Amino acid sequence: MSDSKVTLTDHETGKTYELPVYKATYGSPLIDITSLNKETGFFTYDPGFMSTASCRSDITYLDGAKGELMYRGYPIEQLAEKCSFMEVFYLLLNSELPNAEQLNEIEREVADHTILYESLLHLFEGFHYDAHPMAILTGVVGSLSAFYNDPLDITNPEHRLETAYRIIAKLPTIAAVTYKHSVGERFTYANSKMSYCGRFLHMMFSRSGEDYEIDPVAEKALDVLFVLHADHEQNASTSTMRLAGSSDTNPYAAIAAGIASLWGPTHGGANEAVLKMLRNIGDVKNIDKYIAKAKDKNDPFRLMGFGHRVYKNFDPRAKIIKNICYQVMEKYGNDPRMELAMKLEEIALKDEYFIKRGLYPNVDFYSGIIYSALGFPEEMFTVLFTIGRAAGWMAHWIEMISEPHKRIGRPRQYYTGLARRDVPR
Ligand code: SDX
Repeated sequence: MSDSKVTLTDHETGKTYELPVYKATYGSPLIDITSLNKETGFFTYDPGFMSTASCRSDITYLDGAKGELMYRGYPIEQLAEKCSFMEVFYLLLNSELPNAEQLNEIEREVADHTILYESLLHLFEGFHYDAHPMAILTGVVGSLSAFYNDPLDITNPEHRLETAYRIIAKLPTIAAVTYKHSVGERFTYANSKMSYCGRFLHMMFSRSGEDYEIDPVAEKALDVLFVLHADHEQNASTSTMRLAGSSDTNPYAAIAAGIASLWGPTHGGANEAVLKMLRNIGDVKNIDKYIAKAKDKNDPFRLMGFGHRVYKNFDPRAKIIKNICYQVMEKYGNDPRMELAMKLEEIALKDEYFIKRGLYPNVDFYSGIIYSALGFPEEMFTVLFTIGRAAGWMAHWIEMISEPHKRIGRPRQYYTGLARRDVPR
């Protein structure tokens, strides 16, 4: 049922077409073009989806002009301050925050799914020790259905929930095994009584034969970062996961598609690219040179961690992450890269080029400073982004699969290739 209509006029034929318009809870009204081609013969053309809503969703809303982000109606600032990642995972899946009993149940469900089959652990032996962790993560998650191949009925809500618990539970384990493989150390499971982040830190950094104490500052910082990364509407990796999942494929395969997309340096891979960029800049005196490179159309260099398709004044997550940087540095000592990053931000935000284009620090600009302080190598940063975002991916996958009129995603194109011709024989 539409709220209003718009009229399309074809000036060549003088024909007019009425199209339904929907009013969203927030954000731009939407013109429904579902029947456009059938009724008018036209396609729309929108590379990069600058003006296209690919689906309807109740999960997350972001307002690029106001710098607002909400999960199920709750502002990200309040969720980051008051809720744990497990509470936010429950919220994304169920639309409401959990009570004490519901939180206890989801934490137990996730704890129960933390371990990996021994046969899966052997898979890691085939990877080179210096393989990029995102290459391993893409491969291992894509292979999960070869190990967890119990009957999966994606139309069954319980099976869908169990898949969500498994993914969220096993990603930190897969991440920790990947890291231990890269440093040639034996992997050990953590005590399932620990918190989600405590367990992950223990699996990552405890070493056989040595005591390991979970640092509450690290545990809390990581938990807030997972909350901040948990979902972000129809970003590239979520849209990739939705398109892959729209064919009713195995959910682990759909999530692996999302991981593959998130790895890209213009998306989730930017957090690793920021640290490399800061290393290349090296000193405050070189900032002007790199700002000039970023503005030079003939130079492929971009200021990593800057800019966003939707946020055109600030990314609310970047503000929160910047504050966590101060807390973490208070505990672990100052990181000279923080000062360089802040100077870079200060200079860029006074520059007309960045102001005119609404280019501000995004979620990836400061997060690497924190991950580094917690002991994670740069190659693991996007793996950490993946763990947080998997909560949103599972909520979107469940929302899409549960839709009564779900359709396989199959965009059309603007063909500019050769006209029909015959093979010259
Ligand atoms: C994430 O979508 C999401 O929600 C993503 C994310 C999430 O939570 O899922 O928020 C996570 O991916 C954050 C973004 C991380 N990526 C980076 O930090 C990489 C650097 N940023 C850019 O590559 C870019 O800003 C994008 C990819 C983030 C956005 O690209 P758009 O929306 O396609 O913008 P654009 O490339 O069309 O840029 C518009 C203008 C262009 O200049 P003009 O042609 O108008 O002259 O701004 C310029 C661009 O050249 N520009 C930059 C720039 N980003 C855009 N110039 C220098 N440095 C940059 N970083």
